Amino acid sequence: MRSKLTAPAIRARKVRDGGEPLVMVTAYDAPGARMADEAGVDLLLVGDSVAMVVLGYDDTLQVTVDDLAHHTAAVARGLASSAPDRPAKKPFVVADLPWMSYHTTPTDTVMNAAQLIRAGAQGVKLEGGRKRLPMIEAILDAEIPVMGHLGLTPQSLHAMGGFRVQGREHGAALELVADAKALAAAGCFAIVLEGVPDEVARMVTDAVDVPTIGIGAGAGTDGQVLVYHDVLGIEDRILPKFVRRYADLKAAGVDALSAYAADVRSGAFPGEAETYHLDAEVAETLGIYGLAPIGV
Ligand code: KIV
Repeated sequence: MRSKLTAPAIRARKVRDGGEPLVMVTAYDAPGARMADEAGVDLLLVGDSVAMVVLGYDDTLQVTVDDLAHHTAAVARGLASSAPDRPAKKPFVVADLPWMSYHTTPTDTVMNAAQLIRAGAQGVKLEGGRKRLPMIEAILDAEIPVMGHLGLTPQSLHAMGGFRVQGREHGAALELVADAKALAAAGCFAIVLEGVPDEVARMVTDAVDVPTIGIGAGAGTDGQVLVYHDVLGIEDRILPKFVRRYADLKAAGVDALSAYAADVRSGAFPGEAETYHLDAEVAETLGIYGLAPIGV
C-alpha cells in the first residue's frame, strides 16, 4: 500500500532549503483524483472553486461544508484505488473550509473542519490573515493541519469589490507579509498566495519558513496550484492571465459527443461489437431464429 505525503513533509519543502517545488491541483471527484495521482502531483485541493467550475455558480459563496464533504469523499475514494504501482507517495488531500464555516465560533469551526477530515481530507484550508488566527489555533488544537490562503481571497469577493489582484500598494504589500508571518507562526503548514504581484509573493516567500503555493503569484513561490478545469481546458469561457492550459478537453469532449450523436442518428452505434446476444438454443425456445425484433 502506498503511503501519503504528510503535512510535516510538505512543511519542509521550502525551495530555498533545497526543496522541490510543490505541485497542487484541484480535484472534485474520483476520476479527477486518479488522473492527478497518476500524474504525480503532491497535493489535491478539494477547492470551493467546485462551486464555479463544477456546479455552475458565479462565485464560491454558494457551497456548504456538506457540499465540500461530498466532493472530498469522492476524491478520497478515487485515491484509495489509484495507481497502486507508482513509487511516489499518494497526494495529500486538502479540503477548503467554505464561506461561513469558520466565521462564527471556534467550536463550529473545529466541527466543520472535522467533517472534512472524516470525509477523507488530511488537512483544511481557510482564507484570511491575522483576524482568522483564533479559528486557525482552534483547528490546530484539534490536531488538524491548516493551510492558509492570502491575497485574492475569493470568499471576500464583495468586500474586495471583485476578483482583483491584491497587495499592489506599499502598505497592502506589508500587510500581506505580516499576515503570512502570523499564519506561519501560528502553525499553518503552507500558505496559498493568490492573485498578488510577483515581487510581493517573493517578499512573503522570503519572510516565512513554510512553503508558499502560488496561483497568479509569479514564479517565486515554493509551489504552484491551478484549477483542474483550467489546466485541462474543460473550462473555456474565461482564461485568466495566470492560467496555462495544457490540454483542450472541452473541444475533445465536444468532438467525441458529436461523433456519438452522429453514430446514434445514422444507426452506426451500437454495432455488433457493442451488442449482447442470446445463446442460439435459448433464442430458439423463444421462437427467435434470426435477429430479435426491436422491443423484444
Ligand atoms: O478553491 C480553489 O480552487 C482555491 C484555489 C484557487 C487555491 O482555493
